[in-house]
Amino acid sequence: MSSSVKGMRDLLGDELRWFQRIEEAVHRVFGAHGYREIRTPILEYTEVFKRSVGDSSDIVNKEMYEFLDKGNRSVTMRPENTAGVVRAMVDHKLLVNNDPQLFYYMGPMFRYERMQAGRYRQFWQIGAESFGVASPESEAESLVMLFDFLQGLGLKSLSLSLNSVGTPESRPAFNAAFRAFFDARANHFCEDCHRRIETNPMRILDCKNPGCQAALEGHPTIVEFLDEASKAHHTRLKELLTALDIPFTENPRLVRGLDYYTRTAFEVLSSDLGAQSALLGGGRYDGLVKMLGGPDTAAFGWAIGLDRLAMVLKQLQGDAPFDPPALLIPLGEKASAEAIRLAREWWGKGLSIQLETRGCPLKKALQSANRTGVKLALILGEGELEKGTVAVKHLDTGEQEEWSLEETALNLGGKGTRS
Ligand code: HAM
Repeated sequence: MSSSVKGMRDLLGDELRWFQRIEEAVHRVFGAHGYREIRTPILEYTEVFKRSVGDSSDIVNKEMYEFLDKGNRSVTMRPENTAGVVRAMVDHKLLVNNDPQLFYYMGPMFRYERMQAGRYRQFWQIGAESFGVASPESEAESLVMLFDFLQGLGLKSLSLSLNSVGTPESRPAFNAAFRAFFDARANHFCEDCHRRIETNPMRILDCKNPGCQAALEGHPTIVEFLDEASKAHHTRLKELLTALDIPFTENPRLVRGLDYYTRTAFEVLSSDLGAQSALLGGGRYDGLVKMLGGPDTAAFGWAIGLDRLAMVLKQLQGDAPFDPPALLIPLGEKASAEAIRLAREWWGKGLSIQLETRGCPLKKALQSANRTGVKLALILGEGELEKGTVAVKHLDTGEQEEWSLEETALNLGGKGTRS
Protein backbone atom coordinates (compact mmCIF):
# COMPACT_ATOMS: atom_id res chain seq x y z
CA MET A 1 0.00 0.00 0.00
CA SER A 2 1.79 3.12 -1.11
CA SER A 3 -0.84 5.54 -2.32
CA SER A 4 -3.51 7.59 -0.63
CA VAL A 5 -7.16 6.54 -0.87
CA LYS A 6 -8.68 7.44 -4.24
CA GLY A 7 -10.10 10.95 -4.18
CA MET A 8 -8.20 11.87 -1.00
CA ARG A 9 -4.99 13.78 -1.22
CA ASP A 10 -2.24 15.21 0.93
CA LEU A 11 -2.16 18.96 1.23
CA LEU A 12 1.27 20.55 1.19
CA GLY A 13 3.43 23.11 -0.55
CA ASP A 14 1.80 25.82 -2.62
CA GLU A 15 -1.73 24.40 -2.36
CA LEU A 16 -1.55 24.32 1.42
CA ARG A 17 -0.17 27.86 1.49
CA TRP A 18 -3.27 28.99 -0.44
CA PHE A 19 -5.46 27.15 2.07
CA GLN A 20 -3.67 28.89 4.93
CA ARG A 21 -4.02 32.36 3.42
CA ILE A 22 -7.72 31.76 2.86
CA GLU A 23 -8.21 30.37 6.37
CA GLU A 24 -6.47 33.37 7.89
CA ALA A 25 -8.87 35.68 5.99
CA VAL A 26 -11.85 33.60 7.16
CA HIS A 27 -11.03 34.13 10.85
CA ARG A 28 -10.40 37.84 10.29
CA VAL A 29 -13.39 38.71 8.08
CA PHE A 30 -16.03 36.43 9.57
CA GLY A 31 -14.93 37.30 13.10
CA ALA A 32 -15.40 41.00 12.31
CA HIS A 33 -19.02 40.26 11.33
CA GLY A 34 -19.74 38.69 14.72
CA TYR A 35 -19.61 35.08 13.53
CA ARG A 36 -18.00 32.63 15.95
CA GLU A 37 -16.18 29.48 14.97
CA ILE A 38 -17.66 26.05 15.61
CA ARG A 39 -15.92 22.68 15.16
CA THR A 40 -18.21 19.70 15.03
CA PRO A 41 -17.18 16.03 14.79
CA ILE A 42 -16.47 14.45 11.42
CA LEU A 43 -18.64 11.46 12.35
CA GLU A 44 -22.35 11.92 13.01
CA TYR A 45 -25.12 9.37 13.35
CA THR A 46 -26.31 8.61 9.82
CA GLU A 47 -29.83 9.71 10.77
CA VAL A 48 -28.63 13.33 11.08
CA PHE A 49 -27.86 13.46 7.33
CA LYS A 50 -30.72 11.28 6.18
CA ARG A 51 -33.27 13.51 7.87
CA SER A 52 -31.73 16.81 6.79
CA VAL A 53 -30.00 16.40 3.43
CA GLY A 54 -32.86 14.15 2.36
CA ASP A 55 -33.45 10.47 1.63
CA SER A 56 -33.98 11.11 -2.06
CA SER A 57 -30.82 13.21 -2.60
CA ASP A 58 -27.79 11.87 -4.44
CA ILE A 59 -25.63 12.69 -1.44
CA VAL A 60 -27.57 10.37 0.88
CA ASN A 61 -28.35 7.76 -1.76
CA LYS A 62 -25.02 7.36 -3.45
CA GLU A 63 -22.27 9.37 -1.86
CA MET A 64 -22.10 8.85 1.88
CA TYR A 65 -19.21 7.16 3.67
CA GLU A 66 -21.57 5.28 5.95
CA PHE A 67 -20.68 2.34 8.15
CA LEU A 68 -21.51 0.53 11.35
CA ASP A 69 -19.23 1.33 14.27
CA LYS A 70 -18.10 -1.34 16.71
CA GLY A 71 -21.28 -0.77 18.73
CA ASN A 72 -23.33 -1.55 15.61
CA ARG A 73 -24.57 2.04 15.23
CA SER A 74 -24.76 3.50 11.76
CA VAL A 75 -22.43 6.50 11.50
CA THR A 76 -21.45 8.67 8.53
CA MET A 77 -18.42 10.80 7.74
CA ARG A 78 -20.03 14.18 7.21
CA PRO A 79 -20.79 14.92 3.54
CA GLU A 80 -21.57 18.52 4.54
CA ASN A 81 -21.72 20.46 7.78
CA THR A 82 -25.05 22.29 7.97
CA ALA A 83 -26.72 19.23 9.47
CA GLY A 84 -23.93 18.80 12.04
CA VAL A 85 -24.03 22.48 13.04
CA VAL A 86 -27.81 22.33 13.47
CA ARG A 87 -27.45 19.14 15.52
CA ALA A 88 -24.91 20.99 17.72
CA MET A 89 -27.23 24.02 18.11
CA VAL A 90 -29.99 21.68 19.30
CA ASP A 91 -27.70 19.64 21.59
CA HIS A 92 -26.31 22.77 23.26
CA LYS A 93 -29.75 24.45 23.44
CA LEU A 94 -28.38 27.57 21.79
CA LEU A 95 -31.62 28.43 20.06
CA VAL A 96 -34.10 28.25 22.92
CA ASN A 97 -34.27 32.03 23.49
CA ASN A 98 -34.55 32.82 19.79
CA ASP A 99 -31.46 35.04 19.91
CA PRO A 100 -29.59 35.36 16.62
CA GLN A 101 -26.66 32.93 16.53
CA LEU A 102 -23.91 33.29 13.93
CA PHE A 103 -21.38 30.52 13.34
CA TYR A 104 -18.69 29.67 10.84
CA TYR A 105 -16.65 26.52 10.24
CA MET A 106 -13.87 25.10 8.13
CA GLY A 107 -13.08 21.47 7.70
CA PRO A 108 -13.00 18.34 5.58
CA MET A 109 -16.17 16.77 4.14
CA PHE A 110 -16.52 13.36 2.49
CA ARG A 111 -18.54 12.33 -0.54
CA TYR A 112 -18.06 9.21 -2.59
CA GLU A 113 -18.29 11.06 -5.93
CA ARG A 114 -16.96 10.47 -9.40
CA MET A 115 -13.55 12.12 -9.65
CA GLN A 116 -12.87 15.08 -11.89
CA ALA A 117 -10.96 18.37 -11.71
CA GLY A 118 -11.94 20.15 -8.50
CA ARG A 119 -14.02 17.22 -7.27
CA TYR A 120 -12.59 15.07 -4.53
CA ARG A 121 -13.87 12.47 -2.08
CA GLN A 122 -12.30 14.33 0.80
CA PHE A 123 -12.73 18.02 0.19
CA TRP A 124 -12.85 21.09 2.37
CA GLN A 125 -15.58 23.60 3.02
CA ILE A 126 -15.74 27.01 4.60
CA GLY A 127 -19.26 27.66 5.80
CA ALA A 128 -21.31 30.29 7.60
CA GLU A 129 -24.69 29.68 9.18
CA SER A 130 -26.99 32.20 10.85
CA PHE A 131 -29.89 31.16 13.06
CA GLY A 132 -32.88 32.96 14.45
CA VAL A 133 -33.45 35.62 11.78
CA ALA A 134 -35.94 35.19 8.96
CA SER A 135 -35.48 38.55 7.23
CA PRO A 136 -34.09 39.16 3.74
CA GLU A 137 -31.79 41.66 5.50
CA SER A 138 -30.03 38.81 7.31
CA GLU A 139 -29.45 37.12 3.95
CA ALA A 140 -28.10 40.36 2.48
CA GLU A 141 -25.73 40.74 5.45
CA SER A 142 -24.46 37.20 5.03
CA LEU A 143 -24.00 37.68 1.28
CA VAL A 144 -22.15 40.96 1.80
CA MET A 145 -19.75 39.09 4.07
CA LEU A 146 -19.37 36.37 1.46
CA PHE A 147 -18.72 38.78 -1.40
CA ASP A 148 -16.39 41.05 0.56
CA PHE A 149 -14.46 38.00 1.66
CA LEU A 150 -14.08 36.64 -1.88
CA GLN A 151 -13.31 40.03 -3.40
CA GLY A 152 -10.81 40.70 -0.61
CA LEU A 153 -8.96 37.57 -1.74
CA GLY A 154 -8.83 38.95 -5.27
CA LEU A 155 -11.81 37.31 -7.02
CA LYS A 156 -13.41 39.84 -9.31
CA SER A 157 -16.14 38.73 -11.70
CA LEU A 158 -18.49 36.96 -9.33
CA SER A 159 -22.17 36.60 -9.97
CA LEU A 160 -24.79 34.99 -7.82
CA SER A 161 -27.20 32.58 -9.46
CA LEU A 162 -30.39 33.10 -7.47
CA ASN A 163 -33.75 31.40 -7.08
CA SER A 164 -36.49 30.89 -4.54
CA VAL A 165 -37.49 27.28 -3.96
CA GLY A 166 -40.60 28.22 -1.97
CA THR A 167 -41.83 26.54 1.17
CA PRO A 168 -43.28 23.10 1.89
CA GLU A 169 -46.69 24.86 1.84
CA SER A 170 -46.24 26.52 -1.57
CA ARG A 171 -44.56 23.55 -3.26
CA PRO A 172 -47.61 21.34 -3.90
CA ALA A 173 -49.06 23.99 -6.27
CA PHE A 174 -45.78 24.07 -8.23
CA ASN A 175 -45.52 20.27 -8.16
CA ALA A 176 -49.01 19.90 -9.64
CA ALA A 177 -48.31 22.34 -12.47
CA PHE A 178 -44.93 20.77 -13.09
CA ARG A 179 -46.36 17.26 -13.12
CA ALA A 180 -48.82 18.27 -15.88
CA PHE A 181 -45.92 19.81 -17.84
CA PHE A 182 -43.79 16.68 -17.33
CA ASP A 183 -46.55 14.23 -18.28
CA ALA A 184 -47.08 16.04 -21.60
CA ARG A 185 -43.47 15.27 -22.65
CA ALA A 186 -42.54 12.40 -20.34
CA ASN A 187 -40.76 10.35 -23.01
CA HIS A 188 -38.12 13.12 -23.41
CA PHE A 189 -36.96 12.76 -19.81
CA CYS A 190 -34.33 10.33 -18.54
CA GLU A 191 -34.92 7.43 -16.17
CA ASP A 192 -33.62 9.40 -13.18
CA CYS A 193 -36.15 12.16 -13.88
CA HIS A 194 -38.94 9.60 -13.98
CA ARG A 195 -37.86 8.57 -10.50
CA ARG A 196 -37.57 12.20 -9.38
CA ILE A 197 -41.10 13.09 -10.52
CA GLU A 198 -42.32 10.70 -7.83
CA THR A 199 -39.85 11.58 -5.08
CA ASN A 200 -38.80 15.23 -5.56
CA PRO A 201 -40.09 16.80 -8.83
CA MET A 202 -38.16 20.06 -8.33
CA ARG A 203 -34.86 18.23 -8.76
CA ILE A 204 -35.70 17.55 -12.41
CA LEU A 205 -34.95 21.22 -13.06
CA ASP A 206 -31.22 20.72 -12.54
CA CYS A 207 -30.86 17.32 -14.21
CA LYS A 208 -27.46 17.35 -15.93
CA ASN A 209 -28.75 15.39 -18.93
CA PRO A 210 -28.81 17.73 -22.00
CA GLY A 211 -31.95 15.98 -23.33
CA CYS A 212 -33.82 16.75 -20.10
CA GLN A 213 -32.57 20.33 -20.09
CA ALA A 214 -33.95 20.77 -23.63
CA ALA A 215 -37.27 19.15 -22.68
CA LEU A 216 -37.60 21.65 -19.82
CA GLU A 217 -37.98 24.57 -22.24
CA GLY A 218 -41.00 26.65 -21.11
CA HIS A 219 -41.37 24.82 -17.76
CA PRO A 220 -43.46 26.35 -14.96
CA THR A 221 -41.15 28.17 -12.56
CA ILE A 222 -41.24 27.82 -8.77
CA VAL A 223 -41.32 31.60 -8.38
CA GLU A 224 -44.67 31.79 -10.20
CA PHE A 225 -46.19 29.57 -7.50
CA LEU A 226 -44.77 31.26 -4.42
CA ASP A 227 -47.10 32.33 -1.62
CA GLU A 228 -47.34 36.11 -1.07
CA ALA A 229 -44.91 36.23 1.85
CA SER A 230 -42.24 34.23 -0.04
CA LYS A 231 -42.73 36.42 -3.09
CA ALA A 232 -42.27 39.59 -1.03
CA HIS A 233 -39.20 38.06 0.61
CA HIS A 234 -37.66 37.25 -2.75
CA THR A 235 -38.38 40.72 -4.15
CA ARG A 236 -36.94 42.44 -1.07
CA LEU A 237 -33.73 40.38 -1.22
CA LYS A 238 -33.24 41.32 -4.88
CA GLU A 239 -33.74 45.00 -4.03
CA LEU A 240 -31.19 44.78 -1.24
CA LEU A 241 -28.63 42.99 -3.44
CA THR A 242 -29.04 45.60 -6.17
CA ALA A 243 -28.59 48.44 -3.66
CA LEU A 244 -25.50 46.72 -2.24
CA ASP A 245 -23.93 46.18 -5.66
CA ILE A 246 -23.97 42.42 -5.44
CA PRO A 247 -24.50 41.20 -9.00
CA PHE A 248 -26.96 38.33 -9.42
CA THR A 249 -28.89 36.60 -12.14
CA GLU A 250 -32.17 34.85 -11.57
CA ASN A 251 -31.96 31.17 -12.37
CA PRO A 252 -35.37 29.44 -12.29
CA ARG A 253 -33.69 26.03 -12.65
CA LEU A 254 -31.48 26.36 -9.60
CA VAL A 255 -32.79 23.96 -6.94
CA ARG A 256 -29.66 22.65 -5.10
CA GLY A 257 -28.83 19.05 -4.30
CA LEU A 258 -29.87 19.11 -0.64
CA ASP A 259 -33.50 18.90 0.41
CA TYR A 260 -33.59 21.30 3.35
CA TYR A 261 -33.89 24.61 1.50
CA THR A 262 -36.85 26.95 1.77
CA ARG A 263 -37.21 30.23 -0.14
CA THR A 264 -33.78 31.64 -1.08
CA ALA A 265 -31.35 29.28 -2.81
CA PHE A 266 -28.17 30.33 -4.61
CA GLU A 267 -24.85 29.29 -6.05
CA VAL A 268 -21.79 31.04 -7.42
CA LEU A 269 -20.16 29.40 -10.40
CA SER A 270 -16.64 30.18 -11.48
CA SER A 271 -15.67 30.04 -15.12
CA ASP A 272 -12.22 28.87 -14.00
CA LEU A 273 -13.71 25.65 -12.65
CA GLY A 274 -15.58 24.41 -15.71
CA ALA A 275 -19.21 25.00 -16.53
CA GLN A 276 -20.84 22.71 -13.99
CA SER A 277 -18.70 23.30 -10.96
CA ALA A 278 -20.00 25.60 -8.28
CA LEU A 279 -17.58 27.51 -6.14
CA LEU A 280 -20.16 27.75 -3.41
CA GLY A 281 -23.81 27.27 -2.64
CA GLY A 282 -26.35 27.91 0.05
CA GLY A 283 -29.72 29.25 1.02
CA ARG A 284 -32.42 29.44 3.64
CA TYR A 285 -33.45 26.36 5.59
CA ASP A 286 -36.14 27.40 8.02
CA GLY A 287 -37.49 23.90 8.71
CA LEU A 288 -34.29 22.08 9.54
CA VAL A 289 -33.77 22.98 13.21
CA LYS A 290 -37.25 21.77 14.05
CA MET A 291 -36.79 18.66 11.98
CA LEU A 292 -33.71 17.79 14.05
CA GLY A 293 -35.59 18.25 17.32
CA GLY A 294 -35.00 21.94 18.09
CA PRO A 295 -37.34 24.91 18.33
CA ASP A 296 -38.90 26.39 15.21
CA THR A 297 -35.95 28.53 14.03
CA ALA A 298 -35.23 30.46 10.86
CA ALA A 299 -31.81 29.75 9.35
CA PHE A 300 -29.65 30.77 6.42
CA GLY A 301 -26.15 29.86 5.30
CA TRP A 302 -23.73 28.78 2.65
CA ALA A 303 -20.56 26.81 2.09
CA ILE A 304 -17.61 27.50 -0.17
CA GLY A 305 -15.52 24.68 -1.63
CA LEU A 306 -12.08 25.53 -0.23
CA ASP A 307 -10.23 23.25 -2.66
CA ARG A 308 -11.98 25.01 -5.54
CA LEU A 309 -11.37 28.47 -4.11
CA ALA A 310 -7.65 27.72 -3.71
CA MET A 311 -7.57 26.39 -7.28
CA VAL A 312 -9.18 29.55 -8.69
CA LEU A 313 -6.85 31.81 -6.72
CA LYS A 314 -3.83 29.92 -8.00
CA GLN A 315 -5.12 30.26 -11.57
CA LEU A 316 -5.62 33.99 -11.10
CA GLN A 317 -2.60 34.86 -8.98
CA GLY A 318 -0.07 32.05 -9.38
CA ASP A 319 1.83 30.58 -6.46
CA ALA A 320 0.98 31.75 -2.96
CA PRO A 321 3.80 33.89 -1.57
CA PHE A 322 6.43 31.78 0.14
CA ASP A 323 8.70 33.40 2.67
CA PRO A 324 10.91 30.68 4.13
CA PRO A 325 12.98 31.38 7.24
CA ALA A 326 16.68 32.17 6.95
CA LEU A 327 18.88 29.11 7.52
CA LEU A 328 21.56 29.38 10.18
CA ILE A 329 24.49 27.09 9.33
CA PRO A 330 27.13 26.61 12.03
CA LEU A 331 30.53 25.25 11.04
CA GLY A 332 32.32 23.21 13.70
CA GLU A 333 31.42 22.07 17.18
CA LYS A 334 31.89 25.37 18.95
CA ALA A 335 29.73 27.21 16.45
CA SER A 336 27.05 24.50 16.65
CA ALA A 337 26.49 25.09 20.35
CA GLU A 338 26.54 28.85 19.89
CA ALA A 339 24.12 28.63 16.92
CA ILE A 340 21.43 26.96 19.06
CA ARG A 341 21.82 29.63 21.73
CA LEU A 342 21.78 32.42 19.15
CA ALA A 343 18.78 31.02 17.28
CA ARG A 344 16.91 30.72 20.56
CA GLU A 345 17.59 34.39 21.28
CA TRP A 346 16.33 35.34 17.80
CA TRP A 347 13.24 33.10 18.01
CA GLY A 348 12.51 34.89 21.29
CA LYS A 349 12.54 38.17 19.38
CA GLY A 350 10.06 36.82 16.86
CA LEU A 351 12.53 36.18 14.02
CA SER A 352 12.11 33.22 11.66
CA ILE A 353 15.22 31.07 11.69
CA GLN A 354 15.75 27.48 10.67
CA LEU A 355 18.74 25.72 12.11
CA GLU A 356 21.02 23.35 10.20
CA THR A 357 21.84 20.68 12.80
CA ARG A 358 23.46 17.94 10.72
CA GLY A 359 26.97 19.24 11.30
CA CYS A 360 27.62 18.68 7.60
CA PRO A 361 30.07 20.49 5.30
CA LEU A 362 28.96 23.91 4.11
CA LYS A 363 28.60 22.77 0.51
CA LYS A 364 26.13 20.05 1.41
CA ALA A 365 24.17 22.41 3.66
CA LEU A 366 23.90 25.00 0.86
CA GLN A 367 22.84 22.38 -1.69
CA SER A 368 19.96 21.27 0.57
CA ALA A 369 19.08 24.90 1.24
CA ASN A 370 18.85 25.58 -2.50
CA ARG A 371 16.69 22.53 -3.11
CA THR A 372 14.26 23.34 -0.30
CA GLY A 373 13.72 26.96 -1.33
CA VAL A 374 15.75 28.75 1.36
CA LYS A 375 16.64 32.27 0.23
CA LEU A 376 19.06 33.39 2.89
CA ALA A 377 21.86 31.41 4.54
CA LEU A 378 23.56 32.76 7.67
CA ILE A 379 26.91 31.06 8.08
CA LEU A 380 28.54 30.96 11.49
CA GLY A 381 32.16 29.76 11.36
CA GLU A 382 35.08 30.15 13.76
CA GLY A 383 35.99 33.53 12.27
CA GLU A 384 32.48 34.91 12.54
CA LEU A 385 32.20 33.60 16.09
CA GLU A 386 35.24 35.62 17.09
CA LYS A 387 34.04 38.77 15.36
CA GLY A 388 30.41 38.47 16.50
CA THR A 389 29.13 38.39 12.89
CA VAL A 390 27.55 36.00 10.39
CA ALA A 391 28.50 35.49 6.74
CA VAL A 392 25.35 36.06 4.74
CA LYS A 393 24.68 34.34 1.43
CA HIS A 394 21.68 35.34 -0.71
CA LEU A 395 20.94 32.09 -2.47
CA ASP A 396 18.83 33.58 -5.27
CA THR A 397 21.53 36.08 -6.39
CA GLY A 398 24.70 34.47 -5.03
CA GLU A 399 25.56 37.80 -3.36
CA GLN A 400 27.59 37.58 -0.11
CA GLU A 401 28.07 40.00 2.75
CA GLU A 402 28.78 40.10 6.44
CA TRP A 403 26.34 41.27 9.12
CA SER A 404 26.88 41.88 12.81
CA LEU A 405 24.53 39.95 15.08
CA GLU A 406 22.54 43.13 15.83
CA GLU A 407 22.30 43.91 12.13
CA THR A 408 21.07 40.38 11.45
CA ALA A 409 18.25 40.70 13.97
CA LEU A 410 17.31 44.07 12.48
CA ASN A 411 17.51 42.95 8.85
CA LEU A 412 15.48 39.82 9.36
CA GLY A 413 12.80 41.88 11.07
CA GLY A 414 10.89 38.75 11.99
CA LYS A 415 10.35 37.74 8.38
CA GLY A 416 13.40 35.80 7.30
CA THR A 417 14.37 38.14 4.45
CA ARG A 418 16.06 41.49 4.36
CA SER A 419 13.64 44.31 5.10
P1 HAM B 1 -23.07 22.01 -1.49
O1 HAM B 1 -23.52 22.80 -2.67
O2 HAM B 1 -23.36 20.57 -1.49
O3 HAM B 1 -23.74 22.72 -0.24
O4 HAM B 1 -21.52 22.22 -1.28
C1 HAM B 1 -20.96 23.51 -1.19
C2 HAM B 1 -19.68 23.59 -1.99
O5 HAM B 1 -18.79 22.56 -1.59
C3 HAM B 1 -19.85 23.38 -3.48
O6 HAM B 1 -20.29 24.54 -4.12
C4 HAM B 1 -18.44 22.99 -3.90
O7 HAM B 1 -17.62 24.14 -4.06
C5 HAM B 1 -17.94 22.23 -2.68
N1 HAM B 1 -17.99 20.79 -2.98
C6 HAM B 1 -19.05 19.96 -2.92
N2 HAM B 1 -18.69 18.70 -3.26
C7 HAM B 1 -17.38 18.74 -3.56
C8 HAM B 1 -16.41 17.76 -3.96
N3 HAM B 1 -16.73 16.49 -4.12
N4 HAM B 1 -15.13 18.18 -4.19
C9 HAM B 1 -14.78 19.47 -4.02
N5 HAM B 1 -15.64 20.43 -3.62
C10 HAM B 1 -16.92 20.08 -3.39
C11 HAM B 1 -23.58 22.29 1.04
O8 HAM B 1 -22.79 21.46 1.39
C12 HAM B 1 -24.46 23.04 2.03
N6 HAM B 1 -24.18 22.50 3.38
C13 HAM B 1 -24.21 24.52 1.96
C14 HAM B 1 -25.04 25.29 2.94
C15 HAM B 1 -24.61 25.79 4.11
N7 HAM B 1 -26.32 25.57 2.83
C16 HAM B 1 -26.73 26.23 3.88
N8 HAM B 1 -25.70 26.36 4.69
